[in-house]
Amino acid sequence: MTGNCLVQFLGGDRGEKPPDLPGVRAGNVHKQMTIIKQISEKEVPMSMLLHADPSEKCIELYLHGSKCFGAFVEDSLVGVCVTNSNGADAWEIYNIVVIPEKQKQGFGKKLLEFVINYFEETGAKSLELGTGTFGYQLLFYQRFGFRVESVRRNFFVDNYSEPIYEEGIQLKDMLRLSIKYDRPGT
Ligand SMILES: CC(C)(COP(=O)(O)OP(=O)(O)OC[C@H]1O[C@@H](n2cnc3c(N)ncnc32)[C@H](O)[C@@H]1OP(=O)(O)O)[C@@H](O)C(=O)NCCC(=O)NCCS
Repeated sequence: MTGNCLVQFLGGDRGEKPPDLPGVRAGNVHKQMTIIKQISEKEVPMSMLLHADPSEKCIELYLHGSKCFGAFVEDSLVGVCVTNSNGADAWEIYNIVVIPEKQKQGFGKKLLEFVINYFEETGAKSLELGTGTFGYQLLFYQRFGFRVESVRRNFFVDNYSEPIYEEGIQLKDMLRLSIKYDRPGT
């Protein structure tokens, strides 16, 4: 897991190129007939978001006024990404999740790449997020060029009522990551 709320953050350098995922940039349909598109916050099931963030209260805060994206297979919603503005053309991924039975099949990568490209194309300056200091999720983001900006020690201890464990280790600190969309001349 690693949803987050209560965040304010700026900037970062865009590093590596995202992995090449045919079918995503060219449109939004790939060979398994996945469609990724913007959806309304009302279409996002709370039960899905809770897989990534155990705090319904936090989710309600960042879901309000958010820009949401859904991954659909045969009209069925299999994954969502909730983003919200941090002001000054900075956007933040607050929650990204694929339903458990569809995980590890490439939907998360397609969804994340779609969102990264969406904000690049709409003129955002940066895309930010908060995640744990270890775990596969950190690799997932770093493979797409997210870079570490800072650490928030004890974020998950101070902001969640129950301890959060990943692979048997208590998650305590949050890493702030970002992609900065470099545009020459701006
Ligand atoms: C993170 C998440 C959205 C990724 O979506 P996904 O569809 O499972 O991911 P993909 O199939 O596109 O795979 C992305 C990479 O993560 C790896 N991965 C995904 N789930 C994993 C798991 N449970 N354990 C280890 N690696 C995992 C995949 O093997 C893949 O690695 P690769 O590029 O080396 O092949 C999804 O696993 C999820 O919903 N997790 C629970 C909620 C969560 O933690 N959200 C992120 C909050 S920070």
